[in-house]
Amino acid sequence: MKAGYADPAPTEGRGLLLRTMLPGDVAEVMAIEQASFEAGWPATAFERELSQNQMARYIVAEQVALDSSRQLAGFAGLWLMLDEAHVVTVAVLPQLRGRGIGRLLVHGLIELARDSAMSVATLECRVSNAVARRLYAGYGFYEVGLRKRYYSDNQEDAVIMTTEELASPAYERRLVRLASHLQARIPGVRLMAER
Ligand SMILES: CC(C)(COP(=O)(O)OP(=O)(O)OC[C@H]1O[C@@H](n2cnc3c(N)ncnc32)[C@H](O)[C@@H]1OP(=O)(O)O)[C@@H](O)C(=O)NCCC(=O)NCCS
Repeated sequence: MKAGYADPAPTEGRGLLLRTMLPGDVAEVMAIEQASFEAGWPATAFERELSQNQMARYIVAEQVALDSSRQLAGFAGLWLMLDEAHVVTVAVLPQLRGRGIGRLLVHGLIELARDSAMSVATLECRVSNAVARRLYAGYGFYEVGLRKRYYSDNQEDAVIMTTEELASPAYERRLVRLASHLQARIPGVRLMAER
């Protein structure tokens, strides 16, 4: 278990928390995947990522109700590639979007990347995905180029985004500001930054 993450079976607390994705989450993750991406991954791809890909780190945002029932609200993943964290995926249940959960997941990925001593984070995003581009821009990703016809389903271009040095004082200040923004937006949320 990664230091700073909530235990997968916490005994106290209600609300929203980030934790490491477990093999038992894959069915719920697949429901979010299918609702989020037209050409989504099959369950076997997630199972392989969790069991075989040493570079992969996946997290989930889990809602815990007052009666202790749980529901996954979203998930995200990255690959630790030498000193670069590559964001592979971020998705939130459609009915729970617009509440800061996407930000929470990106926050968790950035904290994971920093804990793993990655120097920067990078990603590719469909040029048409304005919501995701804004979300990433809020976390300091800026656009450095295009990969032409990157997406094979519709030949769409990908915009390549990267952050500045994750350990820089400026990025550190940005994260502190973003953590307080998240805590104001999602009261009681449990962030890695709280450790
Ligand atoms: C992208 C996605 C993960 C965002 O999740 P979310 O929980 O709605 O995101 P948040 O509520 O944290 O919003 C984060 C930012 O995204 C942008 N955003 C969110 N909803 C938006 C909307 N309807 N219109 C424009 N911008 C929007 C805003 O910049 C917002 O920040 P703000 O609320 O401070 O203005 C979600 O829309 C999703 O799962 N989409 C399908 C999968 C996908 O495209 N993933 C990204 C692949 S690159």
